[in-house]
Amino acid sequence: MRIFFIYLVSCLIPIYAQNRIGTGVVKKLYEEYCLNCHGENLESGLGGSLLRESLMEDIGSQDDFIQYIKLGNLDMGMPAFGDKLTDSQIRSLQIYIEEIQLKKEREVKNLVGSVQKNKYKAGGYLFRLETVIEDLDMPWSISFISVEKALITERSGALRVWEDGMISKAVSGTPESIKRGQGGLLEVSIHPEYNINKWVYLAYSESLNADEEKPATMTKVVRGRIVDGQWCDQEDIFYTSEEYHNVSGVHYGTRFVFKDGYLYFGIGDRGKQDQAQDLTRPNGKIHRIHDDGRIPVDNPFSHIQNAYPSIWTYGNRNPQGLDLHPLTGAIFESEHGPRGGDEINLIERGLNYGWPIITYGMNYDGSPITAKTAADNMKQPLHYWTPSIAVCGIDFYEGDEFPLWKYDLFAGGLSSQELHRLVIKDDKVVSTEIILKNEGRVRDVATGPDGMLYLVLNDPDVVVRLIPDE
Ligand code: HEC
Repeated sequence: MRIFFIYLVSCLIPIYAQNRIGTGVVKKLYEEYCLNCHGENLESGLGGSLLRESLMEDIGSQDDFIQYIKLGNLDMGMPAFGDKLTDSQIRSLQIYIEEIQLKKEREVKNLVGSVQKNKYKAGGYLFRLETVIEDLDMPWSISFISVEKALITERSGALRVWEDGMISKAVSGTPESIKRGQGGLLEVSIHPEYNINKWVYLAYSESLNADEEKPATMTKVVRGRIVDGQWCDQEDIFYTSEEYHNVSGVHYGTRFVFKDGYLYFGIGDRGKQDQAQDLTRPNGKIHRIHDDGRIPVDNPFSHIQNAYPSIWTYGNRNPQGLDLHPLTGAIFESEHGPRGGDEINLIERGLNYGWPIITYGMNYDGSPITAKTAADNMKQPLHYWTPSIAVCGIDFYEGDEFPLWKYDLFAGGLSSQELHRLVIKDDKVVSTEIILKNEGRVRDVATGPDGMLYLVLNDPDVVVRLIPDE
């Protein structure tokens, strides 16, 4: 089945988010307790190298690592740290070691790069990049209508139409979004029956007190139609009352998938991590509503008093990508994690994805969140990245131009400036590979109706496509 619209993804981490590998509080912890014996760069000393590849495998699970450091190996000269470090501090040290290991590994391999000017080799192909749209202002999301036509959002508030190689001015009359932090105009997608009903869906950060210096905001979803460059017929599809708005400028989530008449979308924790576990609140959740905004009566928590009725799953930190598996219809999500905790999840009815009770990450400053990476009744990710790639938009490739990639999941990274290919079999990630690096922050990924793989980049703010090189 050739799909002529792609459900995309937009992604939100601040432009200043840096690659944090090997920095912060956890570095101080390492320097204070471990450096003397394991070396400044983890490479040597009394205690030997912590960079050897099979180190974590040899030690075992995350819990085994914590036990090892607590008890030490006194006979061999490794002290016991059980009374000096908490479990979660030890866990943050483990993430730190993995960050530096991977950084070294990548330096050695020097990974993907262009083999000559604008020629790349990865994933079994030689390919080149072609710039398709230029002169954008932080583009976030793209939704194809046809080979020659697509809709694009810019976080600064504009919805623009790309048609016959030209990019339009902003469509006038789109809703006012609040451009603070990660907020602004975010996701755009056309309805699966767009050819008949012409509905265009938008997600953005809304405020009920926009004039205030620090307006409280929350994610809102609307639909409307574009007629002669005007936004018309707007209907509110999802919005919340003031009690659910807050002044944080982070973690709005968004991204849409349509399935069987329902609209699924995510809202990040809005900077209040504990609320991701609170079923009375809409943040930190994946939601399911009818595509006209009505709440389904059979949502998983509708029997729980005071539960927010559109919740489909909870414990989701900041969903930044959402797509349907083209063959099974399963919903895949990318979740922008804390440092070291980016995830790919399989989204299933009513499950708890664990944030912030379990996570593979630590805080951006290197301070610990928790030692726990797993717990009963909390769903494990299918895949996680330590160190983080700053995961963003995802897309199952459905084109015919790269047959080896058919139905593989592509995930973009912001601070890492990477495009990852994940091979999925029976809802498991069986292998991963980096396809592109250092060409820009990958905000969104989409199979084009021409079968090429399109990327929405920030820095530079362009849309490019990968084209196989004959
Ligand atoms: C007084 C020196 C000393 C200090 C301080 C020290 N270690 Fe060690 N460490 C060792 C020695 C010696 C070994 C080798 C033990 C062995 O051969 O079994 C070791 C082994 C290890 C191993 C297993 C390595 C392997 O190849 O299997 C890990 C992991 C480790 N240390 C982590 C840490 C961390 C994290 C810290 C800081 C919290 C730390 N160490 C502090 C001396 C030290």
